[in-house]
Amino acid sequence: MNASELAVTVSRVSSGAKLIMVSNREPYIHEREDEGIRVVRPASGMVTALEPIVRAVGGTWIAHGAGSADRLVVDEKGRIPLPPDDPRFVLRRVWLSKQEEKGYYHGMSNNALWPLCHIVYKRPYFSRSDWEVYKAVNRKFCGAVLEEAGNDPAIVFIQDYHFALLSRMIKDERPDIQVVQFWHIPWPNREAFRIFPWEEELLDGLLGNDLLGFHIQYHCNNFLETVGRAMESLVDYENFRIFRGGHPTYVRPFPISVDYEQIQKDVDSPEAEKRKRRFLKELEGEILNTTLYVGADRIDYTKGIPERFKAFDLMLSRYPETKTKVTLLQLAAPSRTAIATYRKLNEELDELTEEINWRHQTEEWVPIRFLRDHHDYYAVLAACRMANVLLVTSLHDGMNLVAKEFVSSRSDGDGVLLLSQYAGASRELPDAVQVNPFDLDQMADAMYAAFLMPEEERRQRMERMRSILEKNNVYQWGENIFSEVERTPSLEGMP
Ligand code: F6P
Repeated sequence: MNASELAVTVSRVSSGAKLIMVSNREPYIHEREDEGIRVVRPASGMVTALEPIVRAVGGTWIAHGAGSADRLVVDEKGRIPLPPDDPRFVLRRVWLSKQEEKGYYHGMSNNALWPLCHIVYKRPYFSRSDWEVYKAVNRKFCGAVLEEAGNDPAIVFIQDYHFALLSRMIKDERPDIQVVQFWHIPWPNREAFRIFPWEEELLDGLLGNDLLGFHIQYHCNNFLETVGRAMESLVDYENFRIFRGGHPTYVRPFPISVDYEQIQKDVDSPEAEKRKRRFLKELEGEILNTTLYVGADRIDYTKGIPERFKAFDLMLSRYPETKTKVTLLQLAAPSRTAIATYRKLNEELDELTEEINWRHQTEEWVPIRFLRDHHDYYAVLAACRMANVLLVTSLHDGMNLVAKEFVSSRSDGDGVLLLSQYAGASRELPDAVQVNPFDLDQMADAMYAAFLMPEEERRQRMERMRSILEKNNVYQWGENIFSEVERTPSLEGMP
């Protein structure tokens, strides 16, 4: 499946209806800098996956305008054609006050729903005022959707947990609009979810969708069970749909992916080569003489970065022959630092890096290189290609697209993927070296196994993983969703 084939499917399914995408994070951010305005691509797997699709099919993308220069480049409705050098779709920015951003994004989305849905033993915090702001912001986005739709038929494709109430709000105003939502993070089991104070209101909001997607079947099962136990509705377990007030919501797994073909090209581009040279200069080239372990993540407690460092430390102590022979290069993008848990994680990582390096380093060798920065797409690809072993050690993750970017980038056929069994990607990639990131002993042994793995085995595993992703690329993900939209008539009544 490629971009133009997907564009054909989408235009057939929408048959003239406008396509409106909604996400919190915008695909391009304009930032003010000394030299002028810089366009930045955010460190978001969601954006990386969605942008090629919208680029292929066109339409309008509605998102929060968060950049310092965002207001300077748009028209009076907050619109701007993008990408800058070859416009294919329109981005409509929604403006939020500091107070709205605090309650809706930092508070309800990332300090309540994020820890609630990821089972990593960080407690969620609930605040009624955040919930009120979250509702008001969902209503604001609803206003933007209705304005963009005008009086025309439309298909609205909503992303993620920032907008649990949006589909219901849209349907209340325009029942004829088809609404689809993809939940990019896990959906926990009923026992975990039931502590959410406004459970019924949130679930009712999500049941405004005609189609609701999760990464894996397990999350769909959890969602059905949550609804079945929490509220009045008819849950049809056989056909995976839920009727609420006579309206069906179909619940389906759609494992998200990456643009496999494009990554092959981009990894060999001059931009990626430039980033590689920069890394080598910064690290004085020394990493070339060691087995290079790479991690590339947002600094988020779900990603298991401290656990990764501790397991690496354990490998160095338990298998001393690895000393001076291995390096861990961690690219780490600062994220959500307005939230205390994230600030503490940053401190913890600095301390751990210092402590582990102090314990093992020699005059010529430093085991962990921790590069905290907003590394762009090409930098991540360059690091993936330089890696002997890529580390994805999430404690819980909806999918994890860095794992898929790594496999797609390895047109040389080499490299080992060490992958958490709690990342959605592990279901599709059984040839990765799978680990339980809560078990540091096992993870240290797995890192050592990757160090020892013979080239033939590495290549066989990589070849099998590559053939899976060649087929299951991001366009196939879009194709699966839109083909399902075609099969699920929104106005179907109760069985
Ligand atoms: O994939 C989950 C997700 O929350 C996306 O919605 C988001 O873009 C990404 O992680 C990064 O988080 P944030 O947008 O809060 O920086």
